Amino acid sequence: MISLLSQYEHIADGLATGGYAIVDDFLSLSEVNSILATEEFGNALDQFRKAGTGQDRQINATIRGDYIQWLDRRSASHEVTVYLKKLEGLLVFLNRALFLSLKDFEIHKTVYPSGAHYERHLDQFREHDHRRLSIICYLNVGWEERDGGQLRLFLPAGPFDIYPQAGRLVCFRSNALEHEVLPATRNRLSITGWILDQLVELRHLS
Ligand code: OGA
Ligand code: MN
Repeated sequence: MISLLSQYEHIADGLATGGYAIVDDFLSLSEVNSILATEEFGNALDQFRKAGTGQDRQINATIRGDYIQWLDRRSASHEVTVYLKKLEGLLVFLNRALFLSLKDFEIHKTVYPSGAHYERHLDQFREHDHRRLSIICYLNVGWEERDGGQLRLFLPAGPFDIYPQAGRLVCFRSNALEHEVLPATRNRLSITGWILDQLVELRHLS
C-alpha cells in the first residue's frame, strides 16, 4: 500500500514535469464501495438526472452528455468526506511543494450514462477562470478497456488515454490540457473537482 504522502509527491512531480498525474488506488476498493453504497450515489443516474443542471444541459447536450450534482462539503456524507479530506491534504501539499496559492475546491458528482461523451475542451472558462487544477476520481468497479469511456488527454506528444478504473485519480492543469471523454458501454461514475486560486463561490451550492 503506497502512503498518501508518496501519492501527493507523485502528483506534484507529475504536475511539475508534464502538467498531469495519475494515481491508482487513491481511494481503496473498499472506500469506493462505501461511497457507492451511500444514498447520494445509489441510483445516481436517476437522481442526478432529476436534479438536472438547468438550461445549460439543454444547450450543451451535444457537447457533453454527463449529469452532474454539485457537492456541498458541509453536508457531504462521511464516506465522501474521506475523499474530500484527502483532497484538502493535497491542496496544502501542492501549495508547499509547487509554491502555488491554491485556496479551495469546487466539486461535483458525475454520471455519464452509457453512450454519453464530452467533446474536446479546456476546463478553464473565461467567465470563471479561477480553476487551476482539474481532479477526477473514478468510481467504476471492474471497468474493462472494452467498456470504453476513456479520458483522452491531448499531450504535446499526442493523445493519451486513461480508463476510469475505481479509485484512480487524474489531476491536470486546468488551463493547459485539452481533453475529451469518449463514450462508454456502461454508466461511468466519478467525482470531479477543481482546485481554485480563490474561495469557492456560494452560488454553486444550491
Ligand atoms: C470534465 C471532464 C473528465 C472525465 O468534467 O470537465 O473533462 O474523465 N471530465 O470525467
Ligand atoms: Mn474537462
